[in-house]
Amino acid sequence: MPIEFLKDEKQFHIYNNTISYIIRVLENGQLENLYYGCRLPEGKSYVYLHQEKGRSLSALCTDGPNEISLQYTKQEYPSFGGGDFRYTACKIKQANGSHISEYKYKEHFIFNGKKEIKPLPATYVENDCEATTIQIVLHDSLVKANLVLTYTIYEGLPVIARNARFENHGEISIVIENAMSGCVDLPDSDYEMVHLSGAWARERHIKVRPLIEGVQSIYSMRGASSAEHNPFIALKRRSTTEITGEVYGFSLVYSGSYSGQVEVCSHETTRVLMGIHPDTFSWELNKDESFQTPELIMVYTKNGLNDMSHAFHNLYGKRLARGVWRDRERPILLNNWEATHMDFTEASILELAKKAKSVGVELFVLDDGWFGKRDNDRAGLGDWFANKEKMPSGIEEFSRKIVKIGMKFGLWIEPEMINKDSDLYRNHPDYILETPGRFSSPSRWQFVLDFSRNEVVDAIYGMLEKIISNSEISYIKWDMNRYITECYSITHGSNEQGKVMHEYILGVYNLYDRLTTKFPEILFESCASGGARFDPGMLYFAPQTWCSDDTDAGERIKIQYGTSMVYPISSIGAHVSASPNHKLKRQISIWGRANVAFYGAFGYELDLNELSDDDLEHIRQQIAYYSKYRRIFQFGDFYRIKSPFEGNEASWISVSQDKTLAVAAFYQQMNKVNAGYLNIKFTGLCEDYNYTTEYFGHKEIFTGAQLMYAGINVDRKELNKDDGDFASVLITMTKC
Ligand code: DGJ
Repeated sequence: MPIEFLKDEKQFHIYNNTISYIIRVLENGQLENLYYGCRLPEGKSYVYLHQEKGRSLSALCTDGPNEISLQYTKQEYPSFGGGDFRYTACKIKQANGSHISEYKYKEHFIFNGKKEIKPLPATYVENDCEATTIQIVLHDSLVKANLVLTYTIYEGLPVIARNARFENHGEISIVIENAMSGCVDLPDSDYEMVHLSGAWARERHIKVRPLIEGVQSIYSMRGASSAEHNPFIALKRRSTTEITGEVYGFSLVYSGSYSGQVEVCSHETTRVLMGIHPDTFSWELNKDESFQTPELIMVYTKNGLNDMSHAFHNLYGKRLARGVWRDRERPILLNNWEATHMDFTEASILELAKKAKSVGVELFVLDDGWFGKRDNDRAGLGDWFANKEKMPSGIEEFSRKIVKIGMKFGLWIEPEMINKDSDLYRNHPDYILETPGRFSSPSRWQFVLDFSRNEVVDAIYGMLEKIISNSEISYIKWDMNRYITECYSITHGSNEQGKVMHEYILGVYNLYDRLTTKFPEILFESCASGGARFDPGMLYFAPQTWCSDDTDAGERIKIQYGTSMVYPISSIGAHVSASPNHKLKRQISIWGRANVAFYGAFGYELDLNELSDDDLEHIRQQIAYYSKYRRIFQFGDFYRIKSPFEGNEASWISVSQDKTLAVAAFYQQMNKVNAGYLNIKFTGLCEDYNYTTEYFGHKEIFTGAQLMYAGINVDRKELNKDDGDFASVLITMTKC
């Protein structure tokens, strides 16, 4: 069993073929982390890795012979107080006002497989032999509270999934003011922190900065994981590249406000903490109640960033995403949003749909504007029934018309929101999250429904269930277009308001759970003004996410490159939109735009009626090409080759698991005059295979070694044939 307990040393060794994670019980009963990294031999004591240092000003956590100071100990899940002056993993307020906790080892359980942590989303196993789990129970005897730390190690992945659960077994209530999902203390600080930050329409840009003393952090207090910082941090050595070197990746399976921070202490150790943001959270725990933190996924590899991403892609693609669509090829869609916005009629939509069918589109998606009084963004949210002026047949009949044309039908919803100009608001003005006596900040003229209340979730479920049940719907785009302000629930007492933000997200998960359970054949795509909630929590319910409202191919190179750090390519919604692009006015050819969008759940989002016959023919060819290579684009092993954040060029490749087929792409950003030769090298192929290599009509046979080490030369004139700036080429390699 790959979790070993050495009784004498009181040491837990969690390992698989590639990684080891070692914890022990200190002599005062608290937990110490001894090691996290490459696999070490089992059956050995690693207690020697504990370093004791009596230093001036340090407080000791025992009056025994060993001078153990928590400030200088790599702790497993540090609690507030006790001489550790760094930020801690938990902070519990007790009846007497004290925040000091002493969680000490009580018992542990090791078992095959992995337990659910419902109602929270989490990774899972399909067979118990895929993973082993240990639960270590700690006890604070003064308040009679348990802390259960759970770790699951996957057999075939360099992954540990962990979470913490707080249980109150005492008579008196305690208040959890901070409950991180996990803490990792590393012995040195010679790392760079990698994170994915940005804003609306420029989400998940890769940021890299060296660690320095003090706290460096990412976070959201917006009620959603946010476009500003994705809930992901990696620590890598300065010398680490995409293909070599150490990297630790941390990703939180949560869609609400969160904190991810890295603290370097004055003696150059590093502490990583990740979990629900403590500033928007507090949770009173009464007798016999428990609180479950979200899951934290930790990846360690010594083989570079691509290897870390592969671990996340495999885990999230196969053991986080669920349902029939997890492994199914995703349909090529046309979404009407950038074609019409809310300005459409049933007739104009049907005309667009017929055109879509004529070029080979498989799924037609009707976006925002079909319901209530939704002619603009000031009205309608909350009224999930058709706007009969625009859609006289109703959605039920309209969906059948699309199916009759020969496509599947998809529908846009934004279930968490309400406009004041809606029947729902007129009937239930109390349904929104707002603070009594304070100004309620509108955002896009809409407000957030109080999903911490079951009756509000029930009301929305009732409307959606009805319309979906009565229509022929194969796909749902679930949008969310504002953050939470003035968070307050009128059904919660003054000591319960700290629960509301977390309970809101539990309400969102609850609605997702009910709809995906009731309609298991429907493909869900999550969305939040583009990619403001592109996180693992959402992937558990919806296997793909609309990546960004910026559909310009030039910008998308960066956004999709950054997104690939953590998220599988099949989860990245990517569409070809109009040129000039609506937001940037940038012009890129129809193939230049598709060459980027192909690397994702592919589709179109433009008015086909405005395109030339030539462009419509190109779209037909693109759909035929994508259909042929769809599996490799969506489910191949994806390797980043050249970063658009580090230079003018970008490149990546998707390779089949058996390495017999690959499609690579090369993109330049700015064109250059009188430029040097262009040589492109690849990654991830089999050195010994011969590959028929095709690009720009050339067809030549090269070995994998040639392609990876010598590369191919591309004539810049050919590269620049359709586009100058943002010119690109796709290279298809087939084993022969
Ligand atoms: C934001 C989404 O990201 C867009 O794709 C579109 O669905 C609009 N909302 C509709 O309001």
